[in-house]
Amino acid sequence: MNDENAPIDVEDALESMLTSARSTMSRAYAPYSNFHVGAAVLNEDGGIRPGANVENASYPLSVCAERNAAAAMVAAGERRIEAVAVVADAPEPVTPCGGCRQVLAEFADAEVPVFCELVDGKGAEFTVGGLLPSAFAFER
Ligand code: THU
Repeated sequence: MNDENAPIDVEDALESMLTSARSTMSRAYAPYSNFHVGAAVLNEDGGIRPGANVENASYPLSVCAERNAAAAMVAAGERRIEAVAVVADAPEPVTPCGGCRQVLAEFADAEVPVFCELVDGKGAEFTVGGLLPSAFAFER
């Protein structure tokens, strides 16, 4: 766990996040697309919560890795995402889908980094705000 007042060092956590996302990717349930994705979110205490995609015979009920990682974070009692990692076996780094971008924006500031990596190590870095500018936020 992180010292309560120390800022999270995302670079320090990145390798652990990628390791977590890679091992969770291997547990994806994707018998329909055969496209396995792993994700991990870093929370403000330095904890890492993983997620994998979980598909369903009723295809639209499938849930992406990123959304499952965000749900695992919430279930663990945490609310703020400080960094996101996504790992997939694909020709180019896989970025979160539109729906997942909105879910990540619920818990992350616009400058939060999103590291998208392939299993061979090739990667690209984005931010939550760059992936979803002007995200909808519920205000009343
Ligand atoms: N998928 C993810 O889990 N995350 C992404 O960023 C892109 C897509 C999943 C959804 C579905 O199970 C499979 O990949 C193919 O779209």
